[in-house]
Amino acid sequence: MPDPDFKIIALDGGAASGKSSTSRGVAKRLNYLYVNSGAHYRTMTYFMLEAGINHRSDEEIQAALDKLTLSTQVEGNSSIMHINGEACAGEIITSPEINANVSLFAAKRPIRSFLLEFQRAQVEVAREHNFKGIIMEGRDIGTVIFPDANFKFFLSASAGVREERREREGQTDLVVQRDTLDAKRTTAPFVPADHSIRINTDTLDLQEVIDLVTGIILTGRVPGTITTQPFSKDDTPSASES
Ligand code: CDP
Repeated sequence: MPDPDFKIIALDGGAASGKSSTSRGVAKRLNYLYVNSGAHYRTMTYFMLEAGINHRSDEEIQAALDKLTLSTQVEGNSSIMHINGEACAGEIITSPEINANVSLFAAKRPIRSFLLEFQRAQVEVAREHNFKGIIMEGRDIGTVIFPDANFKFFLSASAGVREERREREGQTDLVVQRDTLDAKRTTAPFVPADHSIRINTDTLDLQEVIDLVTGIILTGRVPGTITTQPFSKDDTPSASES
């Protein structure tokens, strides 16, 4: 019998807003499956670049996609996407080259529709492995992948704080530029989902954010200091965070 308490959590946010560490921490705490959809786009970008595909050509992209098979490996609480049986993780997909190209490939409709079914099917993977829920992080999880999620969170942080975090991780990454490209694209633009629970992480440490998100999921109560207003046009991540 399917678990009636099984929950779907969408957690979106800009580059270095803290969404990966938060989602991983929440998944561990609540025994949920953790899915990093950004890693899917990064892995896809790695394969496209390796195959010499031009991001401007939908035909080239489609021909490359036709040769790909996606599968999932569950490692602890994490779901790892494999392409043609191969995982691709760590520094390979956070290199300056991938950081500079991922938003270009992520804007392409054939790539987004190819990943959409795979990402939605992660709910079944979570259920099959008896997790109590799933938390997926990304840029369009609350708007496109799981518009009916039990909870939708949106993390933000100011540009300075985000750039500093990347530098501390030893990464070359133009975070604001990448978010602007993601917000301006026509397919699944990066915008907060309506009525998402907005958390600014500038002055909160990781543990505080994990406690906050976990508390909201478990009690269904959102503290008064947190906003959940509908999305307005002046509210794009690049406008509000730079
Ligand atoms: O962790 P960080 O915010 O730096 O990026 P990420 O989550 O690894 O995502 C890398 C890139 O993938 C983003 O800049 C987007 O271009 C793309 N992406 C997307 O378009 N949709 C998602 N759901 C997740 C990522």
